[in-house]
Parts: sequence; structure tokens; C-alpha cells
Amino acid sequence: MKFVTTSAGDPRQYTAKLKAAGLTVFHVVPSLATALKAIAAGVDGLVVEGGEGGGFKNPLDVATMVLLPLVCSKVDVPVIAAGGICDGPSMAAAFALGAEGVQMGSRMVSAAESPVHGNWKQAILDAAETDTVFLNRYSRPGLRALRTARSTTLERQEHVGMDIFARAKELYFGGDMEAAIALAGQVVGRIDAIKPVATIITETVAGFHATIARMAAIEGAA
Ligand SMILES: Cc1cc2nc3c(=O)[nH]c(=O)nc-3n(C[C@H](O)[C@H](O)[C@H](O)COP(=O)(O)O)c2cc1C
Repeated sequence: MKFVTTSAGDPRQYTAKLKAAGLTVFHVVPSLATALKAIAAGVDGLVVEGGEGGGFKNPLDVATMVLLPLVCSKVDVPVIAAGGICDGPSMAAAFALGAEGVQMGSRMVSAAESPVHGNWKQAILDAAETDTVFLNRYSRPGLRALRTARSTTLERQEHVGMDIFARAKELYFGGDMEAAIALAGQVVGRIDAIKPVATIITETVAGFHATIARMAAIEGAA
């Protein structure tokens, strides 16, 4: 199957063209209104992304715990959950709330195969759950990134322009954590080891099954 996800734009712009080319199209949405707009545009499914996730964000952010069940109760297309997921229990929580799949951003940035500099991975391991900043709270685009001296200053700035990424390569591959902003979500507080992607996926799926088995046992005992 040929598959594409689109995000950060109007789903009406590309959905029909991509589908006409034979692609299955999932659109990333941060709210119920944008989910319904994407459905109206004809997408095959949604990536429902909570505001605790890393990267470009709707300034009116809604946590996965609220957004995911809300959207799942109003649409009948497949939903992939994103924002705050890093392991089996968080995957099981997403499925409990209506998702059929999960997407991890911050966890994969920290993976052994991830091409970003080791300083960024170490900063993820060192970060607490409170160590992200939300930039452009009253402007656009909202951005969630790791807390550093520079990003802490930027957090109080009315508007942070896209020129913040001008020296992104120095951060991504040179490891200068103040050269740009290191996009990351609150889930960094739960990431404490650099692991290969295959290990992350195997452990996540095993943890998912262990979690739902434990929950089924609780129900059986009641
Ligand atoms: C470094 C980084 C870059 C990202 N770039 C994109 C992007 O280009 N397009 C997009 O739709 N989402 C992007 N995201 C968001 C992720 O795809 C994912 O939905 C998000 O990180 C999920 O939240 P989590 O960080 O809690 O796992 C990015 C996230 C990170 C951390």
C-alpha cells in the first residue's frame, strides 16, 4: 500500500490529488474542527496529535487524553494517536481511547538509528517532563521544543519567526543545542535510554499486550 501523511496545512489542497495518484492519505489534526475538515476533504484516516507532542503545534493545544476520545467518538475513519506515546502502557491507553495505531516522535528522535547529534539524544534522556517550552502561544505556528537557556527566553517572546531554524543543521548534526530549537514533546520525561528502533517497537508491543492482559484480569476479578 502506498501511504502518505499530510499536516500543517489545508487538507483540501492535496488530498484529492494524492488519492487520485493511488495513495492512502492520513492527515494530522490538533482539534475536532480540523478533524472534521479533513474528513470532509476525503482523507482515509487521521493522525490525532495532542498538544503535549513535539514539533509544530496549534497554539490552542489540547492534550491527547481529551482530544483522542473526542475525535474518535465523532469520526468513523481509522485513527492513529500521537503525542505523549513512548511505550506499551501509553500505546494501550491510546487504544483504550479509540486509536487503532500510534505514532512516536520524541522517542524515535532518541533512537539509536536517529541521525541527530548525541547531544540532542542526551538532552532527551536528561529532560524531566517539565523540560519543554511552548513557543508562540499567542502567535503562529506554535512549537514545542526542549527547554534550553535560549528557548526559555524565546518562550516569553511574543513571536518567534521561522528564522529560528536558519542554523538548524548546527543543532541537528553539530550538536549545538542553542543554534536552533530542538523539537520534542513532554514525553521526554519518560525516555531514559537510547535503544534501537526494533527494540523500541518490540518492547512497546510486548508492553501493550501485558497492559491489556493486566486490565482484562482486573475486569475478570470484579
Ligand atoms: C524533531 C521532530 C520533528 C518533527 N517534524 C514533523 C514534521 O515535519 N511533520 C509533522 O507532521 N510532524 C512532525 N513532528 C511531530 C511528530 O510526527 C509526532 O506527531 C509528535 O512528535 C508526537 O508527539 P511525541 O513527541 O510526544 O511522540 C516532529 C516531531 C519532532 C520531535
